[in-house]
Amino acid sequence: TPIDAFDMVLFGGTGDLVMRKLLPALYHQHQDGNLPAAGRIICLGRSVPDTAAYLDKARGLAQGYLGKHYNEADWDSFADRIEYLRLDANNPDEFGRLADVLNTFPGRVRVFYLSTAPDLFAPISKSLAAVGLSQGNARVVLEKPLGHDLASSNKINDEVGQYFEEQQIYRIDHYLGKEPVLNLIALRFANTLLEPLWRREWIRDVQITVTEQVGVETRADFYDKAGALRDMIQNHLLQLLTIVAMEPPASIDADAVRDEKLKILRALKPLTAETVHTNVVRGQYRAGAINAKPVPGYLEEPGVPAGSKTETFVALKAEIQTWRWAGVPFYLRTGKRLQERLAEIVINFREAPHSIFGRHTTPNRLVIQLQPDESVRLYLMAKEPGNQFRQRPVHLDLDFKDFFQSRSPEAYERLLMDVIRGDLSLFVRRDEQRAAWKWVEPILDAWENGIDAPKPYTAGTWGPAASSALLSRDGFSWHEEG
Ligand code: BG6
Repeated sequence: TPIDAFDMVLFGGTGDLVMRKLLPALYHQHQDGNLPAAGRIICLGRSVPDTAAYLDKARGLAQGYLGKHYNEADWDSFADRIEYLRLDANNPDEFGRLADVLNTFPGRVRVFYLSTAPDLFAPISKSLAAVGLSQGNARVVLEKPLGHDLASSNKINDEVGQYFEEQQIYRIDHYLGKEPVLNLIALRFANTLLEPLWRREWIRDVQITVTEQVGVETRADFYDKAGALRDMIQNHLLQLLTIVAMEPPASIDADAVRDEKLKILRALKPLTAETVHTNVVRGQYRAGAINAKPVPGYLEEPGVPAGSKTETFVALKAEIQTWRWAGVPFYLRTGKRLQERLAEIVINFREAPHSIFGRHTTPNRLVIQLQPDESVRLYLMAKEPGNQFRQRPVHLDLDFKDFFQSRSPEAYERLLMDVIRGDLSLFVRRDEQRAAWKWVEPILDAWENGIDAPKPYTAGTWGPAASSALLSRDGFSWHEEG
């Protein structure tokens, strides 16, 4: 639906997410002509005195983040949309000034993006409501982490729910905005080819990997209290799992899609202390090397408390208890300071039941790569040219990059436009979030109770040996190992 005007308010406006991701995303959409002319971006913060100083800072950083996409004239016209308001989000008395700025254009779509610590979500919502800003076309975007366990996320959701209706709440998971993930949705539901194969009879196992080379960087304060399970698995990886596993929704309407995703989260086989021990690998990096450069271990990182047991790596095996998926392992893996930056979904099909060529053939495999490249590839066996029947895996590219020849937008671009347009399909509904927390909670509890200290792994490897063992036990191996 085209919209004609909007105001987007960015709380945490001087923070890293706004500078690194949100402003560049909005700039791209501005540059591509997708933002309506009447659209303001109001950035809130405390550390910068005024709009001029804010724009100075934003431009400097944007040049770096945008690289070759930075264009002075485009940035200038984009910057005309930006207003900075020095405001203490902790202080309800200051929200009157925000209301004054917004009320110059009544009736507009209003987006409040809370790029702040989660303990501010409720107080900010309350302050917005108190000055009449939660009404009408108001939408609130909540960044993760939304709490640190089921109880705390329930509490935040309850509190925000006092001021905003569920239909106004956009819980963002930026992995859902990544182009290859959307491509997977198209591939599954705009084609008939895969659907008959998309089930236990034909799929042997599924692997979802999101690995990073970076360490904890400057976020030890946050990260040490979170760890990889809360930071990545509870949200990004489980969301990817739902996209792979969900039944075809009846439509692309937000609730139709989210109903199906929810069913998958609810069908995940619950873990127990015992299965946490067998099916979940918890790791923490030690000093090592990334691209041949030495890097310190997690415990030596600035700000990490001595003896921290926080995991920087998780690999686990999940099972979905439905007719479609019973018995198909879904292996999830994520971690920092690993060998490569890689995000991919691998669907391994079953082996040929019998090889007429007398030797083992490689099973077919569908690989959706999100990072570092964006690609969707179907690996098949083909015959090498020549006198012999020698076969080799080859791949068909299913992402049609060359065909479309357009810039692939960043996840946040798509998702911010969805908020402005009022499309909730790619945002996490409250019950989904609850189900995801509920599923990871036995892991948190087991670790809390001392089951499995984190296994050390050397920075620059693929994680602890137990991660490979998790698959080899079932007769499989991770994509890059097999
Ligand atoms: C964030 C996590 O949600 O996702 C970070 O908090 C992580 O720890 C990041 O680095 C990864 O996102 P992307 O898009 O860079 O893969």
